[in-house]
Amino acid sequence: MKLVTLFFFFFLSFLITSSFVSAATLQQQEVQVLKEIGNTLGKKDWDFSVDPCSGERNWSSPASKSYSTLNAVTCDCSFSNNNLCHVVSIVLKSQNLSGTIPPGFAKLPYLQEIDLTLNYLNGTIPKQWSSLNLVNLSLYGNRISGSIPKELGNITTLKSLSLEFNQLSGELPPELGNLLQLERLHVTSNFFTGNLPATFARLSKLNHVRLGDNQFSGAIPNFIQSWTSLQRLVIHGSGMSGPIPSGISLLKNLTDLRISDLKGPDSYFPPLSNLTNLGTLVLRSCNLIGSVPDYLGNVTTLRSLDLSFNKLSGSIPNSLGVLTDMNMLYLTGNFFTGPLPNWIANPDYTDLSYNNFSIEKPDQLTCQQGTVNLFASALKGNNSGTYPCLGITSCPKPSYSLHINCGGKIITYNGNITYDEDSQEAGQAKSLRSGSNWAVSNTGHFFDSGVVDYYTWSNTSKLAMNNAELYMNARVSALSLTYYGYCMGNGSYTVNLHFAEIMFTDDQTYSSLGRRVFDIYIQVRGVIISTFSMTCMSNTFWYTLF
Ligand SMILES: *[C@@H]1O[C@H](CO)[C@@H](O)[C@H](O)[C@H]1NC(C)=O
Ligand SMILES: *[C@@H]1O[C@H](CO)[C@@H](O)[C@H](O)[C@H]1NC(C)=O
Ligand SMILES: *[C@@H]1O[C@H](CO)[C@@H](O)[C@H](O)[C@H]1NC(C)=O
Ligand SMILES: *[C@@H]1O[C@H](CO)[C@@H](O)[C@H](O)[C@H]1NC(C)=O
Ligand SMILES: *[C@@H]1O[C@H](CO)[C@@H](O)[C@H](O)[C@H]1NC(C)=O
Ligand SMILES: *[C@@H]1O[C@H](CO)[C@@H](O)[C@H](O)[C@H]1NC(C)=O
Ligand SMILES: *[C@@H]1O[C@H](CO)[C@@H](O)[C@H](O)[C@H]1NC(C)=O
Ligand SMILES: *[C@@H]1O[C@H](CO)[C@@H](O)[C@H](O)[C@H]1NC(C)=O
Ligand SMILES: *[C@@H]1O[C@H](CO)[C@@H](O)[C@H](O)[C@H]1NC(C)=O
Ligand SMILES: *[C@@H]1O[C@H](CO)[C@@H](O)[C@H](O)[C@H]1NC(C)=O
Ligand SMILES: *[C@@H]1O[C@H](CO)[C@@H](O)[C@H](O)[C@H]1NC(C)=O
Ligand SMILES: *[C@@H]1O[C@H](CO)[C@@H](O)[C@H](O)[C@H]1NC(C)=O
Repeated sequence: MKLVTLFFFFFLSFLITSSFVSAATLQQQEVQVLKEIGNTLGKKDWDFSVDPCSGERNWSSPASKSYSTLNAVTCDCSFSNNNLCHVVSIVLKSQNLSGTIPPGFAKLPYLQEIDLTLNYLNGTIPKQWSSLNLVNLSLYGNRISGSIPKELGNITTLKSLSLEFNQLSGELPPELGNLLQLERLHVTSNFFTGNLPATFARLSKLNHVRLGDNQFSGAIPNFIQSWTSLQRLVIHGSGMSGPIPSGISLLKNLTDLRISDLKGPDSYFPPLSNLTNLGTLVLRSCNLIGSVPDYLGNVTTLRSLDLSFNKLSGSIPNSLGVLTDMNMLYLTGNFFTGPLPNWIANPDYTDLSYNNFSIEKPDQLTCQQGTVNLFASALKGNNSGTYPCLGITSCPKPSYSLHINCGGKIITYNGNITYDEDSQEAGQAKSLRSGSNWAVSNTGHFFDSGVVDYYTWSNTSKLAMNNAELYMNARVSALSLTYYGYCMGNGSYTVNLHFAEIMFTDDQTYSSLGRRVFDIYIQVRGVIISTFSMTCMSNTFWYTLF
């Protein structure tokens, strides 16, 4: 009896031990591939003394870490050969990896997800990856160059493709039109050229498309009407021309439509009456003429409306007054006329600057009335006098110079030049008279900032230049930032603008990646279009993670 028990005990313990020894582990060949990939990426903290599928050490970041910094190799161990696992997902986000993009991923045949968001990787997209059955591919925020290989069109399992914020160029390959499962197509901020391929008409499952900050040509194609599942469409400064095609009227599920900086001819407001789910509508600098349609008042979901920098005229439709959920209303830079509707202060932020409203007693108007920015909202007579709303009736003594420390405190430089303080909060839709002979107006909201809006920025690293304190703080603007000097004597002036980059870092991390594109106008004539950085930052195309 004893013997039997003992035997049974041994048998059991043998079973336990053996199940330990043969716990499913990553296939040896894939371990080798990971070593190779780690080297190429510059991923130095993978510890191969433990099984990569174990989730131990640095093979998976702790659950407490946010998805935006996720660091995880995920395996599937449920294959028929039950002792072996295969890598199905590699997510290495916000790691500052500074190697190159490894073709070697192609040797992980079960891989469904590659996510290298926010690193410092260079190289090109390997065409070898086309053999994979990827579902998610993100290379967002790296230094990847070259063009998209047409072979990517073979990955017909792909649902999400994000190549945003890289240095990719060339045309989008028509083969991508074979990705019939594609739901998300994000290519913002690259150097893509050419027309959107007609084959993209087949991508009827798309629900989220971002194309902005590229050098595309041609008009926004009418075939977008076949993207009937579309919920979000963002085309800021893509290079494409208007008019916005009428086919857009069929995209009834759109909740977020943002288009800006279209080239091409003037056109009337696009037909959006059936887009009754819109929460955000931005049609900025789209060469729109005519009036704003009344039906927008029927879009009860609308919370943000930005129609700035068009040539829209007529009065603000009274129907918009019923939109009690409206949070932001930007009608900046149009030809709107007529009196201000009585509901105009209802949204959290309203910007009416640069218009042609009829305002009673313009001399008594103040630029900021509660949440409404009225800076230069009513042109006065022949427009040669001062803008109304500054509360200035006469200038005691003309001044001949003006120095402002944009976003910062008062600073005397060289013992004889005093830069005025400009540190009062001004954001979203705000103008204020700060110095003795100047005012500032700031407009706009960063729709993708994902965090609380910020309208000033301070240097996050040491500044090496002379007079660094002049550059330590800056105003930030999402749409338009104006400094207006008044009571200046007639004469010719030299205007010096001093720029420093205090947001992007000067190192080899993802924080150093990005570029700025903005226009500068002096006395309403465009003088420079440059790609330099400035201490007053505007129009940065920088999205956060989602
Ligand atoms: C994880 O990686 C970091 C460096 O990125 C290293 O300091 C740390 O020791 C690693 N942890 C383990 C458990 O290997
Ligand atoms: C990457 O660089 C950024 C900015 O320089 C830094 O904030 C972040 O902690 C770095 N991430 C890692 C994982 O080192
Ligand atoms: C793809 O990404 C989505 C969204 O992040 C996620 O829910 C899904 O599980 C991923 N699919 C695969 C196969 O990794
Ligand atoms: C990637 O960048 C490194 C320097 O960071 C450089 O030596 C290498 O040539 C680059 N490789 C490619 C393919 O651009
Ligand atoms: C992959 O794509 C290329 C180019 O689009 C094509 O010629 C080739 O036949 C495709 N291969 C497979 C296996 O589908
Ligand atoms: C539009 O949204 C509705 C409600 O969410 C959904 O039932 C419908 O299938 C969507 N239409 C398309 C074409 O995706
Ligand atoms: C909106 O939908 C209705 C009903 O489907 C249709 O008759 C009308 O033509 C559509 N309007 C536009 C502007 O597309
Ligand atoms: C708004 O909706 C109402 C009710 O559905 C309709 O009668 C009216 O014509 C619509 N207004 C516009 C301007 O489309
Ligand atoms: C602005 O309004 C005035 C008077 O109503 C008018 O004379 C002028 O032409 C308008 N300017 C623009 C640009 O619409
Ligand atoms: C414009 O208005 C100013 C005063 O506001 C006046 O002195 C000037 O003569 C006007 N110019 C024209 C062309 O009407
Ligand atoms: C300020 O002083 C410096 C020398 O201290 C001189 O070169 C400069 O011309 C002065 N500037 C003005 C505006 O007076
Ligand atoms: C900003 O720049 C100044 C001047 O170089 C430096 O003293 C300060 O430490 C910097 N701020 C940060 C947060 O690095």
